[in-house]
Amino acid sequence: MKEISMDLIDGSSWLTPEEITGKMEEYASYLDEVKYGEEQYEENLGWLDVNEWAGEKWITYYQKLAADVRKNADVFVVIGIGGSNQAARAVVEAIGETGPVTIIWAGNSISADSIRNVLQELKGKSVYINLIAKNFETLEPGIGFRALRSFMKKEYGEEYAKRVICTGTEGSHLDMLCKMNGFHFLPFPLNIGGRFTALSPVGLFPMAVAGIDIEAIAAGAQCMRQRLLKESASESMALKYAVIRNLLYQKGFGMEMLSYFEPRYFRFAKWWMQLFGESEGKDNKGLYPLFGNFSEDLHSIGQFLQDGSNIIFETFLDIQNTGASYVLHNDNVDDLFDYLDGKDFDEINRAAFEATITAHSKKFPCVKISVPAVDEETFGQLFYFFEFVCYLSAKILGVNPFDQPGVEAYKQHMFQALGKNRQRKQANSYGTAVGDRSAGGISF
Ligand code: PA5
Repeated sequence: MKEISMDLIDGSSWLTPEEITGKMEEYASYLDEVKYGEEQYEENLGWLDVNEWAGEKWITYYQKLAADVRKNADVFVVIGIGGSNQAARAVVEAIGETGPVTIIWAGNSISADSIRNVLQELKGKSVYINLIAKNFETLEPGIGFRALRSFMKKEYGEEYAKRVICTGTEGSHLDMLCKMNGFHFLPFPLNIGGRFTALSPVGLFPMAVAGIDIEAIAAGAQCMRQRLLKESASESMALKYAVIRNLLYQKGFGMEMLSYFEPRYFRFAKWWMQLFGESEGKDNKGLYPLFGNFSEDLHSIGQFLQDGSNIIFETFLDIQNTGASYVLHNDNVDDLFDYLDGKDFDEINRAAFEATITAHSKKFPCVKISVPAVDEETFGQLFYFFEFVCYLSAKILGVNPFDQPGVEAYKQHMFQALGKNRQRKQANSYGTAVGDRSAGGISF
């Protein structure tokens, strides 16, 4: 398997090799702890051993369920927000669906315009939906699911339940709704928080419906897992990246920008931003993660990067084989671009990439992550690598990577304004969860 690699390009000498090596030695024991996971986080480490939720048994299960959907659906609506949809969306939007099913993303906003557009797109199509919610109190997917249910009931009558798959936690209110209504239920791992669920039913099942080779995603992750286990502290790519991030943070860089020259990595960048932002930004600490969608953003924030406050360093994704080509031919119009005659967009894009990293690294350090191709194996590697680094880096920073107390504050105000606590007496009116899951939904 072609593996991702990492280099530091530091034309401005912010960091010395000795400094990095010294810190890597200092944190060697952290690496050992993260490799196998610490007891204090055992309830959050279901992703660390790839086999737990992306082993052969589970992959076969997701594939079978996905094959049933692919047989009958034109459109598959994924209703979820944050960690519940970003990983699948990252892969599907970068690699693309391989027919016959089109994936539509919903439940990630409260915008009336957005939900109206989603429903508009479904008309006249065979629709299946996948609600993904660990905590079924999250408002966006909750009301998105309601809107989609109403649509489905109207379209398919009581049979609609056979087209609904819910990924939720066992024993939750959502689990009970599945039993009562005959929706198919997929377990949202109890031992993984949203943003670490790329390699679990949360990420892998929708990817499989889109025609993504999830076996290859799991193989990529497994390959990265083995590599990170094998590498000692002095050679560990993950420890080196975590140390560089934390050293730069100590030196006053408050932001890390993930930059890329393939716009189809936009959703991956959003996944990455959530992973680091929600895991590290706490206790008044942490690097603020942002991303640069280049070359477009070079024409907006490029000025700031090169010339503004020195508060941002960059991590570049260097996509080596984009698998795309478009040669620019001369059309006999004297547009002053003849120096590009016969050149490929891909070649021009690479020149822009090299030029940018050379220029930017004269101002601040740049990390380059070389990604051999736009394919499943590399996405598996990237997911696992960044999740592992995130855990390690948060440990060096001294914060708990697996909680997110800060997102509760606004929710309390919102729920109060919307009268949530004045609502019906409580869910117990549903009584004890009853029914047999296999009675409805997709069977295999
Ligand atoms: O990483 C997290 O835990 C969060 O970002 C969640 O994924 C996000 O809030 C969505 O949560 P839920 O699936 O419970 O609705």
